[in-house]
Amino acid sequence: MLLTSRLTTSEGRSVSAKGKPRRAESAGPEQPGSAPAAGQALNRQSAKIPTMPDIENRSQPEPPLLSAARGRRPERLPVWFMRQAGRSLPEYRARREGTAMLQACQDPDLVTELTLQPVNRHGVDAAILFSDIVVPLVVAGIDVDIVAGVGPVLSNPVRSREDVAALPELDPAGLQFLDTAVRQLVAELGTTPLIGFAGAPFTLAAYLIEGGPSKDHALTKALMYGRPDLWDELLSKLAGYATLFLRTQAAAGASVLQLFDSWAGALPATAYERYVLPYSKRVFASLDDLDVPRIHFGVGTGELLGLMAQAGAEVIGIDWRVPLSQAQSRIGPGHPVQGNLDPAILFADWPVIEAAVREVVEQGSTAPGHIFNLGHGVLPQTDPEVLTRVVELVHSLPAA
Ligand code: CP3
Repeated sequence: MLLTSRLTTSEGRSVSAKGKPRRAESAGPEQPGSAPAAGQALNRQSAKIPTMPDIENRSQPEPPLLSAARGRRPERLPVWFMRQAGRSLPEYRARREGTAMLQACQDPDLVTELTLQPVNRHGVDAAILFSDIVVPLVVAGIDVDIVAGVGPVLSNPVRSREDVAALPELDPAGLQFLDTAVRQLVAELGTTPLIGFAGAPFTLAAYLIEGGPSKDHALTKALMYGRPDLWDELLSKLAGYATLFLRTQAAAGASVLQLFDSWAGALPATAYERYVLPYSKRVFASLDDLDVPRIHFGVGTGELLGLMAQAGAEVIGIDWRVPLSQAQSRIGPGHPVQGNLDPAILFADWPVIEAAVREVVEQGSTAPGHIFNLGHGVLPQTDPEVLTRVVELVHSLPAA
């Protein structure tokens, strides 16, 4: 079941039938006597009925997020949040009740609804597919679960030559749910871009080898340093998973692709360059023919930014540790940046948040393009009203 009412977001943007976001110009004055269909007030915004003709199909300027990702400075600074769909939203928690995370990720209608929730609520400039980096592993038949408060956990970690050899190829037929979800979403979203994503080979390998989250990644590093032949076989397979997962989303209409190498920051630059970069490069190269802007993001990657920028993505995601101005000198010219407000600052008082947002915007103003985001995912305890306020503030600031 999808959204079916017309709503107006806090920034005055109209959200049409089935949650399709519209540009502000299409929202006319309220029509007396009209009312939204009963029982369909799906978020805290008050429902309004636009009366002007739907002009969505007239010639459209490029969505700000796509302009920024292509290295231009749109009139409005685009903003979205990593992990914007999820436990910070009461409507998410309500809708997810009784459905396991990985089951939810494979239900196209539920994926559509959960992906749209933060777009409707916050008025962000992009949706990110509701999924998880381990979904390709599930499709490949690997026994993985997501445990609340822990993360992905595997019953049979991959540690030996036999384990690696036994990893199945990813069957495209198993990705029908993904194709359906993305097609539905693109239809619902109208001009708002959908970001598709995948986990990078290293981060997926870290989960497979450790069997779950790890602080030191000791087993992963032991295999990487000690068994380069096995490492190559494993990362080659995982690069294939990421490629197929990303290409499937792009083919169905995702207009931006992000590769999450969340745990790459665990590595020294020399090891990253030798054991990780070639495989991430392979993934990005496999998308070269797609004319879809690509984002490369990792956490704790301050020392790796120069290398990560060589992997083939246009946009480099920066975590909160490195100011955007410094990040730009590390990644070199020509790359738009994404980031990088500290997610924890959202728990401070508003004046503190506002000053920090302005600082990030100021620091990003010298990049060829800037997509405002957090420096990592939204923390579950975050007040969603604060996120909406950040969106409003970013949109109100003069774009450089
Ligand atoms: O960003 C979005 O809103 C889209 C959805 C998304 C999820 N996971 C949903 C999710 C995305 C882009 C991811 C990516 C992901 N998953 C990454 C890369 C990004 C990052 O955070 O570095 C990683 C490392 C994972 C693995 C993973 N899955 C972790 C660490 C967790 C958190 C475990 C916990 O409970 O603290 C998950 C679970 C997960 N993925 C949830 C959501 C909404 C929470 C599960 C739930 O709501 O039941």
